[in-house]
Amino acid sequence: MTENNLKTKNLINFGPSGRAVAQPLDTQLLENFFEHLTMERYANVQYFAIYLWFQERDLNGFASYFLNESMGEMDHARRFADYLIARGQKVQLKELDAPIQEWESIEDLISFSFNMEADLTSSLQQLYSISERLSDTRSNVFLDPIVEAQTKSEDEFANILGKVKFAANQPSAILLIDSDLNKK
Ligand SMILES: [Fe+2]
Repeated sequence: MTENNLKTKNLINFGPSGRAVAQPLDTQLLENFFEHLTMERYANVQYFAIYLWFQERDLNGFASYFLNESMGEMDHARRFADYLIARGQKVQLKELDAPIQEWESIEDLISFSFNMEADLTSSLQQLYSISERLSDTRSNVFLDPIVEAQTKSEDEFANILGKVKFAANQPSAILLIDSDLNKK
C-alpha cells in the first residue's frame, strides 16, 4: 500500500467535540436542533410549574399527570442531546424563559399546554423536512419515533381539553377528571 493510500484510508472527520463523525451535521440543521432542545427543556420546566399549580390546589390527579409530562420532556431533551453528541457535536444549552405560573382557569391552562405541544410538533416537522432536504437520513431515522410520540401527546391533550371544556368549571366534574388522571 502506498503512503497516499494509507492517508486516504485514515481520513476521518472529527466534530466540534473532537469525536469522530461519519457524516458532518449541517450548521443550519444543527441550529434548529439546538432550538428544539431549548423547547423541550422549556416544556420540562413549564410542566413542572403546572404540576405545582395543581398540587397547590389539591388536584393531585392533574398534578401527577403534569409531573409525568415534565419528566417526559426532560427525557426528550436528553435524547436530543445524546443524539447531537453521537453526531460529534458540543451541546449548547440556552437560557430559558421563566415559566408561566398564573392561570385564569383549568381550561386556559390545558389550552396553553395543547398549543405548546402543537409548537413542539411544528418544530419537529421542520427538523424532519430540513433533514430530508439534506439527505441526512440518520436524523430522519432518529426523529421518526419522536414524531409518532408527539402526535400521541397532542391527541392526549386534545382529549383532556375536551373533557375540561365539557366540565365547564363544575367542581364535581373537575374532580372526576382529576381522579381519572390519577389512574393513568
Ligand atoms: Fe417533548
